[in-house]
Amino acid sequence: MTLSFYEYMGRCLYDPEHGYYASGAVTFGKGEHFWTYPQRLRPLFGWMVAEAARALFTRLVESGKVPNDAPLTLLELGAGNGDLAHDALQYIVEHEQSAPWAPLRGRVRYVVGELSAALRVRQCEKLQPFIASGRAEVRALDARELSWDGPFYGVLVANELIDAFPCELLQVAAVDRVERTCVRAVRGGAELDGDELWAALKEGVGDDEIRLSETTEPLSAWPGGVPDSLVEYLRTLAPLIHDLDACGLLPVELCWAPDLPNFVHHVAKLLTGDGSVGAALFIDYGGTSRHVLDPRSSAPHLRVYGPDGARAHTRTVLRDPGAYDLTWDVDFTELARLALAAGLRVPFFGHQSALEAAPIDLWSRASQRLLILGRSREGVENNFQATLEAHELVQRFRQAAGFRLMALSHPNLSFPEQRFGLADLYCEAGLSTLKLGVGHEELVAALESAGIDPELAEHLKPCGDPVADACDRRLYGKRQALLEVLAGWLVEPGAL
Ligand SMILES: C[S@@+](CC[C@H](N)C(=O)[O-])C[C@H]1O[C@@H](n2cnc3c(N)ncnc32)[C@H](O)[C@@H]1O
Repeated sequence: MTLSFYEYMGRCLYDPEHGYYASGAVTFGKGEHFWTYPQRLRPLFGWMVAEAARALFTRLVESGKVPNDAPLTLLELGAGNGDLAHDALQYIVEHEQSAPWAPLRGRVRYVVGELSAALRVRQCEKLQPFIASGRAEVRALDARELSWDGPFYGVLVANELIDAFPCELLQVAAVDRVERTCVRAVRGGAELDGDELWAALKEGVGDDEIRLSETTEPLSAWPGGVPDSLVEYLRTLAPLIHDLDACGLLPVELCWAPDLPNFVHHVAKLLTGDGSVGAALFIDYGGTSRHVLDPRSSAPHLRVYGPDGARAHTRTVLRDPGAYDLTWDVDFTELARLALAAGLRVPFFGHQSALEAAPIDLWSRASQRLLILGRSREGVENNFQATLEAHELVQRFRQAAGFRLMALSHPNLSFPEQRFGLADLYCEAGLSTLKLGVGHEELVAALESAGIDPELAEHLKPCGDPVADACDRRLYGKRQALLEVLAGWLVEPGAL
């Protein structure tokens, strides 16, 4: 008797009493379990999201598809401790009287959709004044079963939501040799199923009495047969798996979220169904299929965060269920593929730093002052140190490898590509990945001959997502030349 990894992870995170998120065991912030960019860059991350939403709301209003005076919704799914919601909404309320916001004045409301009851309490506390004035609402909502009453006119935003969906952990040895990791729980010689294991954990039975171990099973043993959506996913990955095989990089681990197809289906319905019109911004760690398959990109792709600064691979995944966050790198190629199949457009894929656009400039004196103030609030007393840390945060936000933004939209919504700085760099290019086997020397020589600093070759590791990285500020001015250099070496997403 074994538990699928999906069931194990789902219970670890969302068991109503014992789940890491559901119980509120999670702590956010510097020195806490984890520290996401909406918190690190407070309040500026919220401001950037508010400005991105303004650009999209303006297009919505101009589209003529939104009835006059209908409310415009900024829907955030999986809002953590509510910092992003608070900062974005405060910015909106404070700027409503300014000219750029005039067409939207008084029309924007913020809705948080959150699965964790404990986090909803924290979010309500943080948003209390906005809730009291009718500008914000916190709803009990499972994003994977997202539903909306009536037409939706708005923007959906989610930072680090998808990486928290429970996943299956697959071991890929070849295209036709894929196994899944399962969890075996034994207490006093007897094997436990999921209900028995969690009942024991709730009784306070400790690690010393319950033995958890990993085991693998062939896909053919999948109860009820391998889900069609997984068969389809593996089919699209086959060329990449062959490529990895040819380079001697197999076996690899692969995380696959069974709920992702259903989630995308609901997002498509939200943005396009029933006269709705909207766009979605997903910010998360991960990359293209190449990135999440290649063990050299940012392995481990399944990670653990928790009380003791844990950041480890599957071997600690079984420690103290419910006390740690389990999370994985999102495959944005798969997200795009599902979105396109559901009738959505994918107008943007690139680095998260594309969120930073006028009028927000993280290097400006005003922004730096806010970030330095944030460091002081965290207890950094030395002003020089606080200034250094503020600089470092901005650099990290702009350059951290593997932090991505993907936009999805109604097919007829004219997306403000210019706002995202990408009029000439389309999603197709961003989702392309570099062929394996391109040597470092070849890359350096090609960059040099195109007049690009060969040091970039360090950044453009063959296992990375070079074109998506070209949206990184350091590379931005060079992206056209870069695309030309890389053109012959790219695997188009259509080939996946
Ligand atoms: C990694 S945290 C990110 C929190 C916040 N967005 C941030 O960036 O600080 C994941 C958040 O998503 C929520 N969540 C996870 N699965 C969810 C689901 N299916 N529906 C709604 N919320 C979910 C968690 O409870 C938590 O608030």
